[in-house]
Amino acid sequence: MSTEPTNERESKSNRASPSAAADDEPAQYRKSASPEKGKAIIEMAGVTKTFFRGKEPLTVLDGLSLSIEEGAFEALMGPSGSGKSTLLNLIAGLDRPTSGKATIAGNDIGAMSDGELAKFRARHIGFIFQSYNLMPVLTARENVELPLLLTKLSSAERRKRAETALRVTGLDDRMDHYPRQLSGGQEQRVAIARAIVHDPTILVCDEPTGDLDRKSADDILELLTKLNVDFKKTILMVTHDPAAAERATITRHLNKGKLE
Ligand SMILES: Nc1ncnc2c1ncn2[C@@H]1O[C@H](COP(=O)(O)OP(=O)(O)O)[C@@H](O)[C@H]1O
Ligand SMILES: [Mg+2]
Repeated sequence: MSTEPTNERESKSNRASPSAAADDEPAQYRKSASPEKGKAIIEMAGVTKTFFRGKEPLTVLDGLSLSIEEGAFEALMGPSGSGKSTLLNLIAGLDRPTSGKATIAGNDIGAMSDGELAKFRARHIGFIFQSYNLMPVLTARENVELPLLLTKLSSAERRKRAETALRVTGLDDRMDHYPRQLSGGQEQRVAIARAIVHDPTILVCDEPTGDLDRKSADDILELLTKLNVDFKKTILMVTHDPAAAERATITRHLNKGKLE
């Protein structure tokens, strides 16, 4: 797969005139955010993460450095317990490094307050997990709307954005279904719609196909590829599945707190 982002399409006209977007493509999905080739959006320099069990320190990341370009689709592999989720949490601004510097979309993660980190996540991060974490009492549409309840958007606008996200993930005809009425693959599509509904810059995926059969896993990987190529999302995906890693343009390996 080419690493060339297919950029520049429509970008100038859309940026100049927001209302020029097609009706079926509301503001949050305008393809205007063409990645700037060669610009790092994720930069880690000498990052260490140490947890304490009582007084016993456990260094999980050990002076790790990493640079990921805007618009990339990268895979991260490594043995269980090697710190993959810990690394994703730092990139997502869910945790701070013990030492070293993590600069994500221009933001110094270690220097931000909890409130600033929350704003950073709301602007830049979509997190997709192995388990879909959907609310069983809410429909697909209501689940996807959840993150927007924290915004000032009107309920009509929230609904419209949730429906757009569900259309992007191929669930046009499942919006009023409850999670128990959906297959695993469809549940993960709802979770992905929820992760993109606020149009984040970066998608962080922690074993997104870990619970799925081959066919559903391939469909989800196809969807992630679409989000990368058509919607210009930078994607970092932890996976154990070599077929999943093959979708990525770069695969990195984490071992004993360092990248190989
Ligand atoms: N919040 C935490 N407190 C203490 N130890 C943790 C915490 N998070 C992760 N760890 C430990 O850090 C190591 C790496 O965990 P993790 O990043 O989840 O690995 P992976 O995702 O590669 O399986 C494990 O030994 C785990 O027990
Ligand atoms: Mg993990």
